[in-house]
Amino acid sequence: MANPNRLVILGPPGSGKGTQAKLLAKNHGLVHISTGDLLRQNILKQTELGKQAEAVIAQGGLVRTRLIFEMLLDLYEEEKDYVDQFILDGFPRSVKQAEGLSNFLDQKGKPLTRVVQLMLDDEAIVERLVNRRTCPKCGRSYHLISAPPKTPGVCDDDGAKLNWRKDDKEKVIRRRLKTYHEETAPVVEFYQNKGLVVEIDGSQTLEEIQSRISSLLGFCKA
Ligand code: AP5
Ligand code: MG
Repeated sequence: MANPNRLVILGPPGSGKGTQAKLLAKNHGLVHISTGDLLRQNILKQTELGKQAEAVIAQGGLVRTRLIFEMLLDLYEEEKDYVDQFILDGFPRSVKQAEGLSNFLDQKGKPLTRVVQLMLDDEAIVERLVNRRTCPKCGRSYHLISAPPKTPGVCDDDGAKLNWRKDDKEKVIRRRLKTYHEETAPVVEFYQNKGLVVEIDGSQTLEEIQSRISSLLGFCKA
């Protein structure tokens, strides 16, 4: 049986968590669980959770922890089989969430195996996010300057019209960064104290980062 990979990818908004988690999922068969993506799906469907989350996300704050846990527990009921091969992206986002996750996984006898911390400075993040466009169908991310789609506004892979996330406006990006430094940065220390963190420079190319993560986690080359 393959070694368990119960992973968290941490980092500020725009540091590349989603990009790297998707590649790890594709290359190594992990289940990618992004709380941001799940919340956006709820907003699109205008579920009760989506309605509650929409304004909070648009302002760059954090959705209430109780709602996040309810959403993840629903998913866990469907995804139980994958409990040894997952990567959590965008969760946990506060020490309270990290403690809740630890309690849950400890009860199952399946603690986290590693936490990947992507590091990138605030100005690089603002530049990345104001230029980000994403495909609503396949989730692929583009950068208008460094990685534009072949046809402006259209996904190369499936022809869908690209989205500009409402929270990718500079004013909201700066609020998200403030929330990150106040609420999420202490989560890194929480996991450092458990000896789980590997730090990666998020300013390298995405291939360099993927290869570094893969070798630190002991994955064979994909
Ligand atoms: P979420 O969707 O998780 O947003 P985020 O953490 O702000 O991060 P992003 O998705 O914006 O960036 P990313 O790190 O995934 O970077 P990406 O790979 O896209 O959360 C959104 C909101 O939902 C939160 O603000 C909060 O309100 C709420 N929420 C979510 N989870 C919650 C929770 N647990 N509790 C409470 N509230 C919660 O890359 C960014 C760009 O850079 C892309 O254009 C990409 O193509 C480009 N790029 C990536 N890597 C590189 C590279 N190496 N070089 C150059 N460009 C790159
Ligand atoms: Mg993301």
